[in-house]
Amino acid sequence: MQPEIHIFPNNQAVARAFAEWLYQWLDGRQQVHIALSGGSTPQLLFSLLAEEYADKIRWDQVYLYWGDERCVPPTHEDSNYGVTQDLLLRHIDIPISNVHRIRGEENPEAEAEHYGEVIRSSLKLSEAGIPIFDLIILGMGADGHTASIFPHQMELLHADKVCAVATHPDTGQKRITLTGPVINQAKRIAFLVTGKSKTDKVRQVIRQEDEWQAYPVAHIKPVNGKTEWFLDQDAADEL
Ligand code: 6PG
Repeated sequence: MQPEIHIFPNNQAVARAFAEWLYQWLDGRQQVHIALSGGSTPQLLFSLLAEEYADKIRWDQVYLYWGDERCVPPTHEDSNYGVTQDLLLRHIDIPISNVHRIRGEENPEAEAEHYGEVIRSSLKLSEAGIPIFDLIILGMGADGHTASIFPHQMELLHADKVCAVATHPDTGQKRITLTGPVINQAKRIAFLVTGKSKTDKVRQVIRQEDEWQAYPVAHIKPVNGKTEWFLDQDAADEL
């Protein structure tokens, strides 16, 4: 199934459009399992959800996870959970038991194993035993990474574990990430990608040109699901 591409004037418009899409998509659904992303565009989304959708969405029917997390404590400025807690979670009435954070403060290998079990025990499984998210929200780095699957660790796209320990190529920071098979088992994938730094990779990946297969994001193709890209004009400038 070809990905659907939505283009908006700027990053705020992307966040607003996706927030409204999410609200409409959630309407009437029960027990929805969503994996969140880190990054700048999701932060705009979280703020908007807190400001304008706190009382519109049935948060008790939403179960939150993370597609990746930095191996830092939740109070660290790099923590994806910490940012989400600050911008969204503390502003909405979501049962704490619905929020499954990756414990970045724990031993990475042990937490990757633990979080994989949290996901496996919370979600429906495919016939092959792969957990099925209802929705995974992803970003894309300027190097074509997604979640914390970086170009130098393409093997994570095919790992037979739910979660794996990754390493940021520049900083060496340890990360915990969903692996490719779990991401590609999702019913729905939404990429939120904005900014001029993404223009070239967006073109290569969407048009399957040049080095597109060298980028992890190009290998995100749900086996039974739908992919949508929410782009701003800058990121989509060469499409
Ligand atoms: C993270 C994200 C990462 C992010 C990209 C894009 O933990 O940082 O999971 O994959 O989505 O790096 O980030 P920006 O949207 O800020 O460019």
